[in-house]
Amino acid sequence: MRLTGKRALVIGGGGAGIGRAVTDAFGVEGAVVVADIDAARAEEAVAGLQERGATAYPVSGDVRSRDDVEAMVAGAVEKLGGLDVLVTVVGGQVAFVPAVKLHEMADEDWDTIYEVNLRYVMRAVRAALRVFLDQDGGGTIVSVGSVTGFMAAPQQAAYGVMKAGLLSLARTVSAEYAADGIRMNVAAGGAIATAVANTAPDAGGEWVGEIPVGRLGRSEEVAEAVVYLASDVSAYICGQQIVLDGGVSTRGPFS
Ligand SMILES: NC(=O)c1ccc[n+]([C@@H]2O[C@H](COP(=O)([O-])OP(=O)(O)OC[C@H]3O[C@@H](n4cnc5c(N)ncnc54)[C@H](O)[C@@H]3O)[C@@H](O)[C@H]2O)c1
Repeated sequence: MRLTGKRALVIGGGGAGIGRAVTDAFGVEGAVVVADIDAARAEEAVAGLQERGATAYPVSGDVRSRDDVEAMVAGAVEKLGGLDVLVTVVGGQVAFVPAVKLHEMADEDWDTIYEVNLRYVMRAVRAALRVFLDQDGGGTIVSVGSVTGFMAAPQQAAYGVMKAGLLSLARTVSAEYAADGIRMNVAAGGAIATAVANTAPDAGGEWVGEIPVGRLGRSEEVAEAVVYLASDVSAYICGQQIVLDGGVSTRGPFS
C-alpha cells in the first residue's frame, strides 16, 4: 500500500483509459478526488471506489478554464483536508483538430492542443505548489506524457511540443522545490490501448509489429508507474520521465 495516507487529485480521472486506471489504483491505495469535465464519468468512477470502501469524491470542471482548475485543487484540499499528490491526465491530440503537417497548421488548433495538454498543467501545478508549501511534508506531482514528447510527432507537432513541455516543467519544478519535499515526474506512454485512442487491447495492424514487445500497452501499466512516481518509494526520482512504450523508442533504423 504505497499510497496509504496520501491524498490525491487526479485531473481527468473519470475516463475509460489511463485516467480511470490511475483513479482506480489511487482509490485502492489512498484517498482520491476525481476531476473530469464529464461529471457522470467522475461520479461513476467514485461510486465504484466507494463500493470497495475507498475514500473518493468527484469534482467536475473544464481544464481549459483557469477558475475550474483552481477550483479542482481547492475542492480536493477541502474534501481531503489537504493534498499530497497531483496527477494530471487530461491530454491528447484532440479529435476535431486536423492532423496536418506544420505548414498547414492553424493558430487556433495549436492553441487548442496547448490548452488541454500544457497550459492547465502549469495552472494545476502552481495551485498545488501553493498548497504543498503551506503544509508539512511537501508533495508529489505526476503528469501523464507521451513518447511524442521526445520523438518526432508527424502531423501532431503541437501535441509533441506540449508533451515535451511536461518534462521541462517537471525538471524546473523539481529543481526549484525539491528542498521543500516537492518533486514532479512524468509517466510517458507509447501506444496504449484505450477507447479515446480508438485502439482495442487486441488491435492488430502492421504498426503493432513495430513494438518490440509485440503488443499495445495497458492503461494499468501506465497507472502502476504513476503510483510509483507518486509514492515515497520513488523519493529519489526527481524531474524525470519513465517511458512505457514496449521498447518503441529504443529502435533504430536497423532494429
Ligand atoms: N491512449 C494512448 O495511446 C496514450 C498514449 C500516450 C499518452 N497518452 C496520454 O494519456 C492521457 C490520457 O489519455 P487516454 O486516451 O487514456 O484518456 P482517458 O480515458 O484517460 O480520458 C481522459 C479524461 O479526460 C477528460 N477530459 C477531456 N477533456 C477535458 C477537459 N477539458 N477538462 C477536464 N477533463 C477533460 C475526459 O472526459 C476523460 O475522462 C493523455 O494525456 C494522453 O495524451 C495516451
